[in-house]
Amino acid sequence: MKVFFALLLVTLAVAARGVPQSRCSKLLAAGLSSNYNESIAHAIHSMTVQGLQLFNPRANDQNTIPTVNHNLHDKNGVKVLPYAPNDALPSDYFDITMNMIDKILSMIGKSDDGLGAHWSSTERIVHKFHMRDLWLRLQKEVRELSPKPLASVCKCVLDVKSNGIFRAVEWIAAHYESGTPITLLDRPIPKLVDSKTWEFWKSDLLHYYTPEALHDAAVYLHCATKDF
Ligand SMILES: *[C@@H]1O[C@H](CO)[C@@H](O)[C@H](O)[C@H]1NC(C)=O
Repeated sequence: MKVFFALLLVTLAVAARGVPQSRCSKLLAAGLSSNYNESIAHAIHSMTVQGLQLFNPRANDQNTIPTVNHNLHDKNGVKVLPYAPNDALPSDYFDITMNMIDKILSMIGKSDDGLGAHWSSTERIVHKFHMRDLWLRLQKEVRELSPKPLASVCKCVLDVKSNGIFRAVEWIAAHYESGTPITLLDRPIPKLVDSKTWEFWKSDLLHYYTPEALHDAAVYLHCATKDF
């Protein structure tokens, strides 16, 4: 069985060069969960250079991670950027927490924070800190990823236009125009106003912390950040 598996891996590695579409589907089906498009799109939709630096300190804006366009009034109507942009924090306060709050609140009412008109201040703060929390959890997941994904797997998972990840980021961008999509489950999300609605938000925000979802996103982020 072990020998068979080793042979299989060698075969797959050799096949890495061209990696046709059907082979990619098989490779990704074998290594990722069945809705990896959504778990990965969720993890990266608001990715920034600063977020990528959690995975590789040399990361910069020459990357190919698709993200929701923060500029909702882009004159060319671009909804999804083909890269994660630079997003430096102000530094007037001492700690990152207060500098993050400063950044979020200083953009309220301007429509260039990538979320659109439907997010309250509280929901914005929760969204930003939730994504940072997930990225920090994923930092550990990427570090401990074993075995590391093969070159062939990386090639397929990074081919976002073919594998459905780009389309899922587009789904998120489109849903920012009508609500607060904190998951890709496509169900109504209550306004976050009290402890009752927080219960809903809390469990929805934990949706992509399952071992499968973390593994999907870790494979993508390992592949996307290893070569800076
Ligand atoms: C993700 O992929 C599944 C299976 O192919 C598909 O049913 C679903 O619509 C996709 N999700 C998005 C948001 O594109």
